[in-house]
Amino acid sequence: MPFPIKAVRSAYPALTDGFAYLDGAAGTQTPQTVIDAISSAYRTGIGNVGGAFPASHRSGAIVTGCRAAVADLVGGHPDGVILGPNMTTLTYRLARAIAGPGDEVVLSRLDHDANVRPWTQTGATVRWAEVDPVTGELPVDQYAELIGERTRVVAVTAASNILGTRPDVAAIAELAHRAGALTYVDGVHATAHGPVDMRALGADFYATSAYKWAGPHIGAVVADPALLETISPDKLASSPDTVPHRFETGTAAFADLEGVTAAVDHLAAMVPGTGARRERLLTSMAAAEEHERELFAGLIAGLETMPHVTVYGKPARRTATAYFNVAGHTPRQVAAHLAGLGVNVWNGHNYAWELTGALGIRDSGGAVRAGLVHYNDASDVDRLLEGVARLG
Ligand SMILES: Cc1ncc(COP(=O)(O)O)c(C=O)c1O
Repeated sequence: MPFPIKAVRSAYPALTDGFAYLDGAAGTQTPQTVIDAISSAYRTGIGNVGGAFPASHRSGAIVTGCRAAVADLVGGHPDGVILGPNMTTLTYRLARAIAGPGDEVVLSRLDHDANVRPWTQTGATVRWAEVDPVTGELPVDQYAELIGERTRVVAVTAASNILGTRPDVAAIAELAHRAGALTYVDGVHATAHGPVDMRALGADFYATSAYKWAGPHIGAVVADPALLETISPDKLASSPDTVPHRFETGTAAFADLEGVTAAVDHLAAMVPGTGARRERLLTSMAAAEEHERELFAGLIAGLETMPHVTVYGKPARRTATAYFNVAGHTPRQVAAHLAGLGVNVWNGHNYAWELTGALGIRDSGGAVRAGLVHYNDASDVDRLLEGVARLG
């Protein structure tokens, strides 16, 4: 069955504003069902959790429902879902609790800075996995040398947020586990682009952010609850010491958490199907991935054939994310030109700090990023290519 792109697009009120939204890698738009879920939570009445009255019970149910939804999305356990404001904040919290001076951490230059700096700043010794700057691949072989008996954590991305590279995380995780190390997998970019099975990836921790997949600005890190039991983060004396609660500081954004659940339900329902939500998610996200793959083939081929365009990376397994420069124009100028034509793209290093450094373009403003998500269509691609062609 072809991906029902018209029906999917009609779920998103913002997509009617005439712009081609190719900035999804920096945050997607939200469907009406998510907007309704958030406003309905406020309208119905919510309280802080743990109280004796119904509005408090509703918040408790929202949190429980949200953990179940995120667990379904990534193939994890609901009791291991840690919720928070965003991935960066949660990763800082976890990194400090997991690693420290005397440990070694293996980081990759493919990663977004949010899966780099929280680890370097623990005081652990850092060992770097390098990227091939031409292909944009992260070769697995180097990990055999990098991982040793002092390795506490191997932090690696499931997909680069600029080149789209999907490294062989399962193979890297196997090497890490053989040495008794933990894996911290950044799924913030990857989650939006296809089915996720964190166990198959070998992810001890899998981080994701709902605003990259149609939800509100909420982050989550998912782990086996038994593993979380072994870790003691900084926390208030007065807050619960149970798992996963002890990893969550302060009061949650309850209404937004209801929006996260609605976003997962939306993803599960993009393609009509039956069965448990996890099954429907796998089917729906596989269909979305194929839809993106088909559109992206035209997008990347179009950019690569333009003589005035330099495309970075050519990874074998990738998300539908292109990163390129246009001769004679800064990335910002290209983005402004495209914005004038109603095409939203991002420009800059996009926090891929190490990677843009390795590509040698960080100090010159990085490049332009155009990415597809499930709600993009062929006209979005055409408008991008026509706009870039005009700069030749
Ligand atoms: C791959 C990747 N990792 C981490 C982050 C940081 O996520 P958050 O904004 O939830 O802190 C981003 C955000 O752009 C990202 O693309």
